[in-house]
Amino acid sequence: MTDRRYVIDEMISAKSIAARIEDLCKEIQKEFKGTDKLVVVGLLRGSFVFIADLVRELDLPIEVDFLEASSYGDGMESSREVRILKDLRGAIEGRDVLVVEDIVDTGHTLHHVTALLKSREPGRLKSIALLDKPSRREVDLKADWTGFEIPDEFVVGYGIDFAQRNRNLPFIGKVRFV
Ligand code: IMP
Repeated sequence: MTDRRYVIDEMISAKSIAARIEDLCKEIQKEFKGTDKLVVVGLLRGSFVFIADLVRELDLPIEVDFLEASSYGDGMESSREVRILKDLRGAIEGRDVLVVEDIVDTGHTLHHVTALLKSREPGRLKSIALLDKPSRREVDLKADWTGFEIPDEFVVGYGIDFAQRNRNLPFIGKVRFV
């Protein structure tokens, strides 16, 4: 799969992403106003660029933690079976939590992760996804905040990979095989 030649067509510019994050952060600030307990949880590895931009735009006292769940491996198909590869460092009992996901695709990853975190009895548990592909959903869920809804295309950039490549692109692009 990875030795197939492909080009990347820009789908969402770096400027549009930055503008959308500004708006999302205003809404998140309203939701969590007054909290001194917010833990922002990034799902590795795809959310690392998004979470970095998001937390720098958030005017709230926060802590950052990370969790890694298995998803696509090196291919383009979701595995459906979600395993936790790296757990949080800190306890979240009684604390407000914002889960940060790169893409909600089938929905299995976010479903599994939120169920796991809920079992640890946090305060408010909310989620944000930069991208949403609603047409691919297999589990009925939606993140509390979504950056952009996109069609059923395989995308890369802004932290998101294809076989571990292209995470460093500053924009979101779709993969086109040539
Ligand atoms: P889900 O469990 O099917 O919702 O998959 C979520 C995960 O699959 C995301 O966090 C991504 O890591 C990965 N994923 C889904 N769609 C894409 C894509 O278009 N490009 C790269 N990774 C993707």
